[in-house]
Amino acid sequence: MTGKIVIVTGANSGIGKATAAQLADMGATVILACRSKERGEAAMSDLMCFGGRCFELMHLDLADLDSVRAFAAAFSQKYDRLDALINNAGILGRRREETTQGYERSFGVNYLGAFLLTLLLLPLLEKSEQGRIVMMSSVAHAWGDVHWNDINFTHGYNRFSAYGQSKLCNLLFTRALSQKLRARNSRITINAVHPGIVATDIVVNRANNRFRWVASLMKILFMTSDEGAKTSVYLTADPALASVSGEYFYRCRIEPSSAASKNLESAERLYALSLRLCGYTDDPLAAKEDEFT
Ligand SMILES: NC(=O)c1ccc[n+]([C@@H]2O[C@H](COP(=O)([O-])OP(=O)(O)OC[C@H]3O[C@@H](n4cnc5c(N)ncnc54)[C@H](OP(=O)(O)O)[C@@H]3O)[C@@H](O)[C@H]2O)c1
Repeated sequence: MTGKIVIVTGANSGIGKATAAQLADMGATVILACRSKERGEAAMSDLMCFGGRCFELMHLDLADLDSVRAFAAAFSQKYDRLDALINNAGILGRRREETTQGYERSFGVNYLGAFLLTLLLLPLLEKSEQGRIVMMSSVAHAWGDVHWNDINFTHGYNRFSAYGQSKLCNLLFTRALSQKLRARNSRITINAVHPGIVATDIVVNRANNRFRWVASLMKILFMTSDEGAKTSVYLTADPALASVSGEYFYRCRIEPSSAASKNLESAERLYALSLRLCGYTDDPLAAKEDEFT
């Protein structure tokens, strides 16, 4: 990974922080894309304790599509290519909340923000020798189907159903985008990952630190973030995967996924809906083969 430029979203905590550390140890320059300056700086100072690592901290709030656009613009001004984008950040909501643009928050943060970020960064990924996208899904993708009639869970909100839907969306997007990239003869690949059940701060309320005891209990039962990062790092770095795309991985192997996640009509429908929700009037992938609009 020496000389490679990698973005990891949600890199200040848990699996994202461990992924950033492992890739930096392999020689990559890792951009820590974080929503909180304070938590991002704290993570960066931890990560820098080991010499020879190269990081940059940049602000990204996936709950605000304007922040996603600002991040992509700032990154594109500074870097002329991107070798890998790891869409790692995610939340397990407690109660129904909305993003700045009014989308249900787990749909907005876990999926829609990552969808827009990916489309905006495709031109720079295309400039890499072989750009890679990693989508953080979960075994939770199999908990149901997309709620087409109420994708924002305005009725009957359930945190687990909303989380499951967002992770299914990440997998459907992986299928749709891999096909579109292949059709354009692009070298860019996209794959999805279930990291395992990992003891992280995903259960901790960031506003008041509640449920930290649950995170501590998880450490006794579940795998560490370092172990949880392994499949993301493998998908980013292994040369053998240069032409593997559109797959779902667990423990560094292709894993079976739910029937709903293989439905290509749903994948296309979600892609079209997501373009609309992000304000696109045209599909950037419908442009000429050698350019993304
Ligand atoms: N832990 C598991 O067992 C497990 C299993 C399957 C999948 N996953 C997935 O793995 C990914 C990483 O989760 P984790 O377990 O490592 O949890 P974590 O320690 O809570 O890390 C989540 C990261 O996402 C960031 N984030 C949350 N909202 C954001 C926003 N609006 N904009 C940008 N970043 C935001 C968090 O930043 P703040 O610290 O500022 O909140 C944090 O850096 C998630 O997508 C999760 O769904 C986890």
